[in-house]
Amino acid sequence: MSELLLTGISQVVTSFGQGPKRGAAMGQLQVVPEAAVAVDAGGISWIGPEREWRGSAKSVIDLGGRAVVPGLVDPHTHAVWAGDRLADFEARSNGATYEEILAAGGGIWHTIRETAEKSSEEMAALALPRIEALQRSGATTIEVKSGYGYTLEAELRMLEAVRLLQEQTRSRLVPTLLIHICPEELGERQIYREMICNKLIPEVARRGLASSVDIFVEHHAWSAEDARIVLACAQAAGLSIKMHTEQFQRVGGLELGVEIGALSVDHLEVCSPEQCGLVARSKTIATILPGVSLHLGLTAAPGRALIDAGAAVAIGTDLNPGSSPLFSTAVAMGLAVRLNGLTAPEALTACTVNAAAALGLSNVGRLEVGMQADLLVLESSDWRDLPYTLGQNMVREVWVAGRKQAA
Ligand code: NIG
Ligand code: FE
Repeated sequence: MSELLLTGISQVVTSFGQGPKRGAAMGQLQVVPEAAVAVDAGGISWIGPEREWRGSAKSVIDLGGRAVVPGLVDPHTHAVWAGDRLADFEARSNGATYEEILAAGGGIWHTIRETAEKSSEEMAALALPRIEALQRSGATTIEVKSGYGYTLEAELRMLEAVRLLQEQTRSRLVPTLLIHICPEELGERQIYREMICNKLIPEVARRGLASSVDIFVEHHAWSAEDARIVLACAQAAGLSIKMHTEQFQRVGGLELGVEIGALSVDHLEVCSPEQCGLVARSKTIATILPGVSLHLGLTAAPGRALIDAGAAVAIGTDLNPGSSPLFSTAVAMGLAVRLNGLTAPEALTACTVNAAAALGLSNVGRLEVGMQADLLVLESSDWRDLPYTLGQNMVREVWVAGRKQAA
């Protein structure tokens, strides 16, 4: 006898088969009409047309003819920060650019000044409502980066804050150590880099505070040469690699990421057609962040060209105060259709199974026997209302490991 049976589902919609989906396979969804899902021990024990269910269940919940999709995976957020970036917003609306503000010691530097002095408890308290907003928007797995600490102690506090948050929410939180920005002056930069390699990364690995290391490769941040050294330390410590790259300039980040087997290369606003091919021929996931294009007015990453070249594309909110104050993973999905040229089925794949792969996870992101019972009950009988609707939450219920979350 199963613990729970969900019935009255107009359609269950999910990607096929294991592993990330590349190219044309991203658009192929499995749609089971008039479906039922059985849940045992937090996982899916049966799924199929309701009329084919032959078992029995202790508890049966009728979902009233609504569509069900996998819980979304948000593979790129900076949900822990203090202060705000309202002055940047105003300056940019008056013509200043994000890069100019950063180069002048504002932007990310400003958020570091606001965040680094906070305790991990204070950081977690600031981040919890943001995590809850992402969860209400459909995210059941959420990556959270450090990167506003800068010093050894403050970076560790940021990751400790994520650990506290893991106890305060039932969303699955995946912490990433982000090596964000660095001193301009070469000597100081080398000293800082050595601290990262000799102290920060080993300590994070020893304490299991993050599963990946991310680095921002950009004209006003790290060079590809520095990134190669830092990421080699990360890999030597047994951590996976993610990268912020090709956001404003092409300085070799994408090529490095593909070469060293990064889990994902993220941003890609200035990714060239040749680079689309390079990612497509690799195992690395291409994570696009449409909230950044919208908020900063950047050319959107070439999502269509990446998929046409055969790449596996994921979508994230990049929730952060400076470049993407976007508190909805579902809206990120809808924006990728409008701004990056994805079809709705491709966007669902990008927000589920491919986003899970961008975090190295294979037990979430699809609805199939043996997977975690992380699923969304939508307001609509047609799943396409999820990427279609803007400004109204089409997620009615969020289930994590077979348990319905409080709204
Ligand atoms: O993903 N580009 C670098 N990092 C973040 C923005 C952080 C910030 O502006 O505070 C990003 O866009
Ligand atoms: Fe980011």
